[in-house]
Amino acid sequence: MKVAIYPGSFDPITNGHVDIIKRASELFDKVIVAVIRNPEKKARFSLDERVEMLQQSFRTVKLVEVDSFDGLLVDYAKKKKANIIVRGLRAVSDFDYEFQMALTNRKMAPKIETLFFMTDYKYSYLSSSFVKQIARLGGDISELVPSAVANKLSSK
Ligand code: PNS
Repeated sequence: MKVAIYPGSFDPITNGHVDIIKRASELFDKVIVAVIRNPEKKARFSLDERVEMLQQSFRTVKLVEVDSFDGLLVDYAKKKKANIIVRGLRAVSDFDYEFQMALTNRKMAPKIETLFFMTDYKYSYLSSSFVKQIARLGGDISELVPSAVANKLSSK
């Protein structure tokens, strides 16, 4: 059974994340979307809210499981018997950080492979930070995020 983990802050999930999760779910037997409990940056949404928005967005997709984790990602991956970490790449600006993270994870756990999915060009500009900023300033985010997120952001 090929299990992949797609980790992230998901603060909040965007349509770019959704696209990557759907594409990954066509390649693996199971994709675990793993929300980090304490992201590096202060999160706008609580862990429960981030998990709930993901669950609402993937309610009908059996191969996708939503979970949360803390501690080292590679330890969590081992616990879940997953040997693939999925990450998305948008522009070259993502590369340094992702390269460093993939090599660090490989140093700690050589059997766990990081696979990168190139973003669809439609989402190459899209980020959770911009979504939050646009929503805060009254812009329309309905085409950038799943409806569960748009509703949540407009109610905040
Ligand atoms: O959505 P993000 O913020 O880019 O996700 C980053 C994340 C959660 C994948 C990364 O911070 C992470 O894996 N954190 C867990 C701690 C860890 O394992 N650190 C060592 C590798 S850098």
